[in-house]
Amino acid sequence: MTEKITVEEGDITRQNVDAIVNAANTTLLGGGGVDGAIHRAAGPMLKEECRKLGGCITGDAKITKGYKLPAKYVIHTVGPVWRGGDFNEDNLLASCYFKSLKLAVENGIKTIAFPSISTGIYGFPFERAAKIAIKTVREFLKSAPLIEKVIFVCFSNGDYTTYRKLLDME
Ligand code: AR6
Repeated sequence: MTEKITVEEGDITRQNVDAIVNAANTTLLGGGGVDGAIHRAAGPMLKEECRKLGGCITGDAKITKGYKLPAKYVIHTVGPVWRGGDFNEDNLLASCYFKSLKLAVENGIKTIAFPSISTGIYGFPFERAAKIAIKTVREFLKSAPLIEKVIFVCFSNGDYTTYRKLLDME
């Protein structure tokens, strides 16, 4: 199963995959971090479509087209804001990965790239988040044979090294 999972260092907006995942907020109307980068690269039509979705609750996901992105779709998910770890953050983060993959299957998506949800502006500790991401994706792939590739896109070399270590790629 693990061979379907890869890690890359770089900008997720450049990924040639069926879908990229956005670490959005509950309004789905854009923001900073990877959300800002995705909206800039996709162009203003993305926001127009997002406006019609009526927001998204934490731990859930919604899908749009990718517009000017190389990816055909964007799956917008809302990670938890880190509040110390006792506020269901772990489960909510796992739910982001699970719901995004569920939407991918429902839409015939075979290749999907994830950023490290909640680990920027939302302050989730990186390694703890990466462990949850890997565990949830591995579990999901056991019963989703149509998904061919899941790429974790890391924005820094340190983040990339952490993922490689956790995936036993060192
Ligand atoms: N490609 C890949 N990863 C990136 C990119 C990129 N272009 N840019 C940043 N990252 P963040 P969050 C990494 O802050 O913590 C927005 O304002 C970054 O290094 O984008 O879920 C939303 O609207 C980090 O590891 O998302 C929300 O309000 C990871 O992406 C809020 O931020 C996530 O960092 C969401 O916060």
